[in-house]
Amino acid sequence: MKLWGGRFTKEINQLAYQLNASIGFDKRLYKQDIEGSLAHVTMLAKQEILSIEERDQIIDGLKGILFDLENQALVIDDSSEDIHSFVETNLIARIGEVGKKLHTGRSRNDQVALDMKLYIRSEITELDELLKELLKTLLGLMKEHIETYMPGFTHLQKAQPITLSHHLGAYFEMFRRDRDRLFDIYNRMNYCPLGAGALAGTTYPLDREFTAEILGFDGATLNSLDSVSDRDYLIELLSALSTIMMHLSRFSEEIIIWNTNEYRFVEIDDAYSTGSSIMPQKKNPDMAELVRGKTGRVYGALMSILTAMKGLPLAYNKDMQEDKELTFDAIDTVKSCLPVFTDMLRTMRFRKDIMENSAKNGFTNATDAADYLVSHGIPFRDAHGIVGQLVLLCIQKNISLEELTLEEFQSVSPVFKTDIYDAISLKTCVEKRLTIGAPGKAAMEKVIQIYQSYLEED
Ligand code: ARG
Repeated sequence: MKLWGGRFTKEINQLAYQLNASIGFDKRLYKQDIEGSLAHVTMLAKQEILSIEERDQIIDGLKGILFDLENQALVIDDSSEDIHSFVETNLIARIGEVGKKLHTGRSRNDQVALDMKLYIRSEITELDELLKELLKTLLGLMKEHIETYMPGFTHLQKAQPITLSHHLGAYFEMFRRDRDRLFDIYNRMNYCPLGAGALAGTTYPLDREFTAEILGFDGATLNSLDSVSDRDYLIELLSALSTIMMHLSRFSEEIIIWNTNEYRFVEIDDAYSTGSSIMPQKKNPDMAELVRGKTGRVYGALMSILTAMKGLPLAYNKDMQEDKELTFDAIDTVKSCLPVFTDMLRTMRFRKDIMENSAKNGFTNATDAADYLVSHGIPFRDAHGIVGQLVLLCIQKNISLEELTLEEFQSVSPVFKTDIYDAISLKTCVEKRLTIGAPGKAAMEKVIQIYQSYLEED
């Protein structure tokens, strides 16, 4: 059944109907749609717009629909235009005339705005849980690998030695901020649009604050035009989801590099790898590649909604119906990537020996050799030049800095003494970096403690 048609003299064109219909994708809002209606009629009765009997009949009918949907006794088919029509049509079929009073003081415009907000709130809660799982996994690995040395990179060139714990800690920071962003979005959007009507509120004496309270909002929205046409929170959410995917994608890229035959820093568990149909030796990092690849579609959703919204006059326009498929797809994508990524990480084997060896090569201790000279009174710029000459000598001889003889060190600067070897050993290079945020063990232990409390406080 259509919810409109009184002023029409002929039927809608079939293809136009299909283009207009949203039931194919907004059916997933059935729970939120019913929850909103339950709150709405409760408020209508409190305000004596509906009688108590009418309220109870409608509530019973709505609960019956919800029960039947959850038990597959009722299936959402394509005969209704959208989920709102579906629920209302079913209600009227179930309880008769009184069902027609449900939509008193309400429009589909404020109704859909409410449904989406309710849906997004619960999705944010689920996303937050998935991020928390990832953070717990990261923290576990950080504790385990506080003395697993590896090279830190800039320009994908070995730069200075760090630890795996320190490297993973960078991702802990990123995903912690991602959680904060979701939390902020939740709080900013948590105002109830119901009662805004089509665009200009209604003449019924609605108690909007009461409806808001029943539905767990922090209050009612304050402008009815904005209430039905605000999609900012979806744009913010898609931006936050894009950022989560960007972080996962960077991490994936590193895992792909670390998993190459050349690096062999990690070995991805068989359960999270795939093979080749022709090359028997292959074990491919497909999960990491998929996460990296799927990042694009989440960015796409963000761009699509931003573009759809940019020319819309106030208030509601049908363009806004486009928000649903895009948002649903983006949320589904992130929700499918996060747990797989977390488990791939949890089950991955980190090759400590290979990482440590890699950190020893590539002159990652060159800065420390320069710092040694500085601690003996040489200006840093001169120290930089001296160590540069030593690196050149090492390259010619195909050795590392610590393999130079003391004579060779002294041939470039007499300041070097035997303690240079200790000063540029891998362990010293990492462990003396003790400022907060640095990879030294004592500094990392403090940060790990902070992360531990952060996860426990939730
Ligand atoms: N399916 C619509 C949407 O998602 C619901 C709102 C319909 N409102 C209207 N005036 N046609 O935006």
